[in-house]
Amino acid sequence: VFSLLFVLSACGTSTTSGSGEKKTLRIVTDATYAPFEYQDKGEVVGFDVDFVKAVAKEAGYDVKVEHVGWDPLFVEIKGKTADAAISSITITDDRKQTYDFTIPYFLSKNEIMVPKKSDIKNAQDLKGKVIAVQNGTTGQDAVEALIGKNNNKLKKFESNNLAILELKGGGADAVVSDNTVIETYIKNNPKDNFKFIEDDTTFQKEFYGILLPKGSKLKADFDKAIKKVVENGTYEKIYKKWLNT
Ligand code: ARG
Repeated sequence: VFSLLFVLSACGTSTTSGSGEKKTLRIVTDATYAPFEYQDKGEVVGFDVDFVKAVAKEAGYDVKVEHVGWDPLFVEIKGKTADAAISSITITDDRKQTYDFTIPYFLSKNEIMVPKKSDIKNAQDLKGKVIAVQNGTTGQDAVEALIGKNNNKLKKFESNNLAILELKGGGADAVVSDNTVIETYIKNNPKDNFKFIEDDTTFQKEFYGILLPKGSKLKADFDKAIKKVVENGTYEKIYKKWLNT
């Protein structure tokens, strides 16, 4: 978190928040990704939910966060049927061709989850193994960079939870996805007997951003609001609430 605070503080200074009538923004997500976004008794909760609410409030908006799923959220932002998406979405050059992103708000990287007794020790060991990923994620990209595209050892699922279920059922040898999500899962599900493997030589640093339609007027307001929320301590409070272990 402190390196991220540094990145953000280097981005500029704060500004006053918006004023006037409060519009309610429709924010879409794939709420199957604890601790960032998941459903608790039918309610969408998590780090991203609190964060985007704080940012929107700072920018002068109300928000409604709705679970639509991973592939659908991109469709909605492309078609401008939603105002923004927050879903642990990594800022990538590829996505930047079609969408806009806010400034980064979270540092992440891919890692590997395997059964404790697995012989997999690093990313290279994934070659020849059956790997489960969430379809259309940077986890899929990272695995494809290792084993090639259209490799039949790569199993793609609509959600990360379904990929984990495949590992649990023995249908896969490993899951590759975001470090915080994997480590949270392992902590919350000790009986599954999974462990995580980091590989900094293979997996790059990634930054999450809020996804916006290309050309969205919200970008300037959200960027300012993100800096403000970091500076005024709100970010750290939300961080501690959801991520302090
Ligand atoms: N950070 C990764 C990506 O952008 C995975 C995000 C998946 N998010 C989710 N809510 N399922 O590709």
